[in-house]
Amino acid sequence: MTAPSISMAPGPVMCIVGARPNFMKMAPILRALAAHAPGLPTMLVHTGQHYDRDMSDRLFTDLGLPRPDINLDVGSGTHAVQTADVMRRFEPALDTHRPSCVIVVGDVNSTLACTLVAVKKNVPVVHVEAGLRSYDRKMPEEINRVLTDQVADRLYITERSAGDNLRREGVAPERICFVGNVMIDSLLANREHAQRPADTLRAHGVDPAVLAGAGRFGVVTLHRPSNVDDAPVLGRLLDVLAEVAERLPLVFVQHPRTRGNIERFGLSQRIDPRRVVLLPPQGYLEMLGLMAEATLVLTDSGGLQEETTALGVPCLTLRANTERPITVDEGTNTMVGDDRVAILQCVDEILAGRGKRGRTPEFWDGRAAERIAADLGAWLADSRRHP
Ligand code: UD1
Repeated sequence: MTAPSISMAPGPVMCIVGARPNFMKMAPILRALAAHAPGLPTMLVHTGQHYDRDMSDRLFTDLGLPRPDINLDVGSGTHAVQTADVMRRFEPALDTHRPSCVIVVGDVNSTLACTLVAVKKNVPVVHVEAGLRSYDRKMPEEINRVLTDQVADRLYITERSAGDNLRREGVAPERICFVGNVMIDSLLANREHAQRPADTLRAHGVDPAVLAGAGRFGVVTLHRPSNVDDAPVLGRLLDVLAEVAERLPLVFVQHPRTRGNIERFGLSQRIDPRRVVLLPPQGYLEMLGLMAEATLVLTDSGGLQEETTALGVPCLTLRANTERPITVDEGTNTMVGDDRVAILQCVDEILAGRGKRGRTPEFWDGRAAERIAADLGAWLADSRRHP
């Protein structure tokens, strides 16, 4: 085994993205570093975990992300294969470019894979959106979060409860820094450029009258393996969605995993095309427009729970737990799991005008990335002085 080949080299800040939810988190960080920390040049690495035009390229365009300096092109695979491929392909990039630190965001397989490679080469790792915990180790993201946070050097958190989680796990308080939510930076920066839902529907050959007739609509996304990889579970959820659709029309934006499974399990007929508009994965501005105008959102996504809170739109989360408790305590989120009665009751409350309105959590103010830029330069200089 060769010794770690890099040690505190004053190279670029290497920013890692891999999957769709990473892109909206990294875009404001890159912008803030360019504007507020010109002494810290950046480099963008895309692992290629998500690679479809709909899952990747369109979001790069919408968010004004630069073309990646390096694309590792790993693609899909089992967790082991995907994580291992990112690690094998990332190592030579790290050796070549000798970054001063690696910034990872969120909780996807690429986050953990790049973290593991970097820490073993003594390259400082900065984790943005650290400390979130669902306390459900069946979620692959939970494993990615716990392991990344144990070995990362600087931990930027979106809500104060994340700091409590980290301290409970023995993380030294001086590694933790509360900066707010970079994903909400992206939302606020793009809010006024959001695409109108009617235009989004037209672009897919759908007559917007489907929604306009009702005057309101709901937005649905589902992609968690626990909800969509098991035929009876997915079938039950589609049946509940059909009952919701009797009350208000739905726009169901389908992840490739979900669309594939609905077809594979023979569940397509459970979706009534007169009440449910099916769309492929949307660009950032299309999704923002749909959420902002929705009467309610039904989802199992982590990001949508936060975005709906920032938009003040009621969100029903089709999961038993959330790693983002502030969206429930202060925001518009309600956890409903797969409980048919709870889901329909909440929908009826919202339609009666009694949905949660919530308030904007602390530091979800569009300036989280600026706080990171301000902290990072000082922290890097300090780590060089006291390695
Ligand atoms: C990943 C993240 C999840 C995140 C989600 C957002 C992990 C463990 N999971 O899940 O946290 O919420 O991204 O989408 O990292 N596929 C395509 N085109 C693509 C990418 C994927 O068709 O561009 C299909 C493939 O069939 C693939 C499947 O989607 O096998 C799942 O992709 P994968 O990257 O393994 O995980 P996600 O479910 O997208």
